[in-house]
Amino acid sequence: MTIDLRSDTLTRPTAAMRRAMAEAEVGDDVFGDDPTVNALQERVAALFGKEDALFTPTGSMANVLAVASLVGPGQEVLCEASAHIARAELGAHGAVTGLTMRTWRHPRGQVDLEAIGEMYAPDMGPFFVRTTAVSVENTHNFAGGTVLPLAGLQALRGWADSVGVGVHLDGARLWNAHVATGVPLAAYGACADVLSVCLSKGLGAPVGSLVVGSADAMAQARVRRKRLGGGMRQVGILAAAGLHALDHHVERLADDHAHARLLAEACGVDPATVETNIVVVPRDDAPAFVAAAREAGVLVSQVGPHVVRLVTHLDVSRSDAETAAAALARL
Ligand SMILES: Cc1ncc(COP(=O)(O)O)c(C=O)c1O
Repeated sequence: MTIDLRSDTLTRPTAAMRRAMAEAEVGDDVFGDDPTVNALQERVAALFGKEDALFTPTGSMANVLAVASLVGPGQEVLCEASAHIARAELGAHGAVTGLTMRTWRHPRGQVDLEAIGEMYAPDMGPFFVRTTAVSVENTHNFAGGTVLPLAGLQALRGWADSVGVGVHLDGARLWNAHVATGVPLAAYGACADVLSVCLSKGLGAPVGSLVVGSADAMAQARVRRKRLGGGMRQVGILAAAGLHALDHHVERLADDHAHARLLAEACGVDPATVETNIVVVPRDDAPAFVAAAREAGVLVSQVGPHVVRLVTHLDVSRSDAETAAAALARL
């Protein structure tokens, strides 16, 4: 049997989730008529203390819509150099929104308020690009599932308010940060003008993300979503998977975090540095390690020239994690 640790997006819907999907009440969501989508949007908005939310097919689309609500063409967003929006959305923010990005670098993906303050460009007329938002990612994927401490996010919020720029939080795995730290989701919500959150990562839904923010921002995002071809119809079938995931798959993320620490130890990574469900393993022989792990029945991915990544998820049980740890330790 193969144990697949390439990503937490690989999960298959459980039997109970499939039943919830089959039984979902649906309507045409482009008309705003899908009761299950509406219920999901209301629930997620309330969880983060925001006015409204908008269902999207992917986290990438949610990020594009979220950032575009704060940054216009010819303006810039500041983010960490290995943020998903900078590294893995294939230039969508530039291509679609027409914005530019500048980045600060932090090995653990953290907010660097000093760097942000130095990079910040106020409105100086038609001569320079103006900063209108800062985007942060919690947990931070390529930094290894690291958590951004609430105090740092609150400091960023205070600074952003003092200069009048927006804050976007890419919360594809904010659920993991919430479970790892006990920080309420609404406390994270209060630090950002607009958030994007995913149901299709650790929560185990097959599809689905949401943008979360003010009613005005969500009304704009609804227009942009349609323009991008993301207006979906009887999509309550997918929203039902998300509602089921919120009911049943949030607290269990603690198991994924424990499994990740087990795997870290087996790979010679200090488990104390593993905060959630992602383990980043520095390996000079990354391609050979990935191939040897595959031979041993464990799928892992290479995310940098000398970096291998392991991700735990709903479809990796305790005994799978133990089996994988034993196999990887032998390598
Ligand atoms: C931090 C982060 N943001 C956004 C995304 C994009 O999600 P999607 O693959 O649904 O477009 C991902 C995907 O892994 C991610 O890790």
